[in-house]
Amino acid sequence: MTSTCEARKAHAAALQQAEQAPPLTRQQILALLSWEEGQQALLAAADRVRARQVGEAVHLRALVEFSNHCERNCWYCGLRRGNRRLPRYRMSPDEIWEGVRQAAALGYGTCVLQSGEDSWYDAETMAGLVRRIKAQTPMAVTLSVGERPEQDYARWREAGADRYLLKFETSQPALFHRLRPGTHQEHRLACLRALGRLGYQVGSGFMVGLPGQTLEGLAGDLELLRDLPCHMAGIGPFIPHPGTPLGKCPAGSVELTLRCLAVARLLVPRANLAATTATASLHPTGRQRALQAGANVIMPNVTPERYRVNYEIYPGKIAPTGDMAAYRQVVGWLVAECGRSVGAGRGDYGG
Ligand code: 5AD
Ligand code: SF4
Repeated sequence: MTSTCEARKAHAAALQQAEQAPPLTRQQILALLSWEEGQQALLAAADRVRARQVGEAVHLRALVEFSNHCERNCWYCGLRRGNRRLPRYRMSPDEIWEGVRQAAALGYGTCVLQSGEDSWYDAETMAGLVRRIKAQTPMAVTLSVGERPEQDYARWREAGADRYLLKFETSQPALFHRLRPGTHQEHRLACLRALGRLGYQVGSGFMVGLPGQTLEGLAGDLELLRDLPCHMAGIGPFIPHPGTPLGKCPAGSVELTLRCLAVARLLVPRANLAATTATASLHPTGRQRALQAGANVIMPNVTPERYRVNYEIYPGKIAPTGDMAAYRQVVGWLVAECGRSVGAGRGDYGG
C-alpha cells in the first residue's frame, strides 16, 4: 500500500517537473517508466508537450528500402548476413530515383533512403543520387545506410543530404557488444557526433525489450537521446525473427515502448519522434497510440512491393495497402482520425 502511494507521489512529482522544468533525474525517469498505473497520465503529459512544442502536424517521410544486403551480423535483425534464407536485392540508382520521384509527386516533403550496411553503394553512387533528388525535387533527403567513414558523410552532406538516421540501438555497452558482434558502441556514438558536426539533422533511437535489457538500461537510452545531437528518434519494440539467434526470445512490450516514447518527448521536447512501424506491427492501433503519446512523424513505406517483402528485419512487418497513391490516402485518414493534420513542406527540426 505504502509503496503504491510512494510510486504515485514520485510519478506525479516527476511528471510535474518534466512539464515545467526539465531535466529529469535518473530516478524520475525510472519512476515514469516503471509505474504502469501512471501510464495514462504520462502519455497525456507527453501529448500536451508535443502539442505545445511541435504542434499538431504529423510529418510524413517516404521510406525507400533500397537494399537488403548487410555486411553486419546483428543478433536481432533478419537482414544479418548469417540469414542465408533471405532472398537479397539491390535497387539500381534509377529505380530508387523513380520511387522518390513518385513520392515527390504525391506531395511527400522528405524521402528516407535506407539499406543494410552495403558497400556496393559507394560514396559517389550515393552522392550522385542525392544530387539528382536535390536538383529535381524540393524534398529533404534523409540517409540511413549505417556506419560509414566520416568523409562519406561529409561528401553526402556536400551533395545536399539533410538528415541522417543511425539508431544507437541500446546504451548498455555489454548488450551492444553481444548483439552487434564486430562493432563498437564508441564508434557508433562517434558517428552520431560527427553527423551532428557536419550539420545533419541527426536521428537515433533504440529498441525496447531486447533480451538482457534492464529498466535502468532503458533510462540510460533515454538519457543518451537527450545528451546526443538528437533532432529525431525512433523507438520501437524488439520483435524476434526466427532466422536470428534471438528467434525464440519474447517480443518487447508495446506499453513500455509507449512509455519510453512519452518520456523521450518530455526529455527532447522539440525532436521529431516517429510512430514506428515496429510498434504498428505489434499492435493494431499502434501508430495511432504512438501519435497520442508524443510522436509526430510517420514513415510510410514506398518501396516497390517485389522488393519490400524481402526487407524482413522482423516478421509480421505491416505493409502498405494498395499502390503508393492509395496508401498515402490511407495514412492521411489515419492522421485525421487522431485529430491531427498532415504537415506541409519538409517538416524540419525546429521548423
Ligand atoms: N525488432 C525490431 N526492430 C528491429 N530492428 C532491427 N531488428 C529489429 C527487430 N528484430 C531495427 C533496429 C535497426 C533498424 C534497421 O531496425 O533499430 O536500427
Ligand atoms: Fe545490418 Fe542494421 Fe540489421 Fe545490423 S540492424 S544486421 S547493421 S541492417
